[in-house]
Parts: sequence; C-alpha cells; structure tokens
Amino acid sequence: MNILAIETSCDETAAAVVRGARNRVTTRSNAVFSQIDIHRAFGGVVPEVAARNHIKKILPVVNEALKPLKGKKPDAIAVTVGPGLIPSLVVGIETAKSLAYAWNKPAVPVNHIAGHIYSAFLDTKQPPQFPALVLTVSGGHTELILMQGHLQFKRIGATRDDAAGEAFDKTAKLMELGYPGGPKLAQQAEQGNASAFNFPRPMLNEPGWDFSFSGLKTAVRYTLQKDVNWKKNIPNYCASIQQAIIDVLVGKTVAAATQHGVQSVVLAGGVSANTELRKQLGDALARELPDVTYHIPDFQYCTDNAAMIGAAGYFFARAGRVKPAENVTVDLEVRL
Ligand code: KG4
Ligand code: ZN
Repeated sequence: MNILAIETSCDETAAAVVRGARNRVTTRSNAVFSQIDIHRAFGGVVPEVAARNHIKKILPVVNEALKPLKGKKPDAIAVTVGPGLIPSLVVGIETAKSLAYAWNKPAVPVNHIAGHIYSAFLDTKQPPQFPALVLTVSGGHTELILMQGHLQFKRIGATRDDAAGEAFDKTAKLMELGYPGGPKLAQQAEQGNASAFNFPRPMLNEPGWDFSFSGLKTAVRYTLQKDVNWKKNIPNYCASIQQAIIDVLVGKTVAAATQHGVQSVVLAGGVSANTELRKQLGDALARELPDVTYHIPDFQYCTDNAAMIGAAGYFFARAGRVKPAENVTVDLEVRL
C-alpha cells in the first residue's frame, strides 16, 4: 500500500510517500521545505507567516514527494490534523482533502504525536516490540506513552508546564544563542563541562511520570542575572542545562520502563535529535535493563517530516481508520 502523507502543523511544509506491507513501512520519498530561515528574523514561529508559506510551498513539495509513483495514484492520503497551529494545519488538511476527493481515495487523519512515535518504525528491520514505552520530546510535548500494541496509546506521564524542547529553546534565548535554540544549545554544550552548574532536576525524585521544566528555566534566568561574566561561560551553561534536562528525561524513562516491564523503549520527537540524549538514554538502558531493546529514529525523521505521518497513517489505514475526504477536519485534542 502506497500512502501520500502531508504535514504542515508548524513551520515545516512536508510531504512524503511511504510503502507499507505487513508490519513494515519504508520511505519512498521525503520532501521537506523548512521555514526556519524565514522565522529566524522573528525569533520564533509566526503562525500567520507560517500559513502563508505553506500555501506557497505545499504543491511543489507534494509534487516532489509524488515522483517515485511515476503518475500512479497513492492508495490513501494521510494528513496531520493536530495538534499544531490552526492556520498551518488547515493548509495541509485542505490540500489532502482536495487530492483525496479528486482521486477518490480514502483520507487518513493522523495525530502529530502518533506520527513522531511511528518515526521509530520507519525503514527498520527491527521495529519496537510491545509492550513499548515511548518518550516523545518535542517543542510542544513531553510525554511518556505506553503501547500494548499498534495504535494503543496510553499516556502515563506528561509535562505540567514547558515541554523539553521549550526548555532548550527558552534557555537558549536567555543566552541569545539564536533560533532555533535547541540545536544551538546542544552545539555549545559539546565544548562545556556538564557539572559546572548544578541546575534543578525538576520532579526527578517525585513519584509518578510527569515532568515540569519551567522551574529550570527560572533557575537559569536568575543564575545568569547574577553572573556578570556569563557570556564567557556559555558552553558550561549549555552543557549544565542540557545535562539537567537529560537527567530528568532518562531517570523517569528508565524508572517507568522498569515498572511497566516493557520489551522496547522508543525515543521520538524533535529533541530526539539531541546526540547526548540519544547516547545517555541508550547507555542507561543497557546498564539497567539490558534485555529491553532501544529504538531511535534516523536523524532525518526526528524533527517534523511527513514520512512519519505516512508511517502512522499506514497503521491507521490498515486498521480501517480512514475517512471520506469531506469528513476530515482539524482536531486539536491532544488525545491520540
Ligand atoms: O518535533 P519538532 O520538530 O516540532 C514540534 O513538534 O514541536 O521539535 C522541535 C523541537 C524544538 O524545541 C527544537 O529546539 C528541538 O526540537 N530540537 C533539539 C535538537 N534538535 C531539535 N533540542 C535539543 N537538541 C537538538 N539537537
Ligand atoms: Zn513535531
């Protein structure tokens, strides 16, 4: 089954074609137009500007993605319906609906977080085994999701305030590192000492699987305000902030994986592109839970893309969760 997938929930205009068969999904094309350079001037994503650029780019990106099909129609069209920025989502949804309507093919509404989760199932001979625990860390979400089988998403923990990506982005902004902050902070951290500053590890030693990162941001702000020489110490600040975030994410994930007796742990979402997080979670699992398999998406599937929406879309379509084009609409519920 060939699926055309479209993703426009934030500032990436993305389309892809994936092929699904039995329990395997492979990418045939993965086209992304990133608006990062456009939004840099504003220091963050401006929803109105994002939507206008999606309108400009969506058809060229879809055409690029369709190339491997050589004029053949896909069997279904998957599209991100939420969560995300409404004006941005609408561009992708209306494009997907129009194509599904014109080609008389089913549409597959896909939740953005389900897409991130399924990025770990793309192009791999060894997909995660169930029960699986998924840590989804992005600019808008930090969640621990327990899966007993395909499409069975049970949220067992989530952030109470800022997401992990936001913690990276906001502390990077305090240090004027530029946009987007996460990768810039990670880059500076490579040169720094992670124990130079002892920032709080919020909720790490409290029961339950929830997260909270706003206190870390505040602690960083006060420490910087008191340090007249902070500009000379940026790599140490970055390494210490990154380590505080990683300690919490790794600590909670390993503890939840232990308690729930999972077979696999999956790391997904934009922050899963962080090399230190990828490594440290893998090391902790190998040490504490050597029988549990560890799955991380390829770098190209960590930040927003449409191949991951196609991967989730394939499993939804296989389960019959398709809709006629006219019934597809924005769905901002965080429910998966
Ligand atoms: O999944 P994503 O592309 O968009 C959302 O769904 O939010 O995630 C974007 C987030 C941003 O907060 C960005 O700073 C963060 O992922 N990010 C990183 C890295 N690459 C992207 N954070 C830390 N280290 C990175 N290497
Ligand atoms: Zn995302």
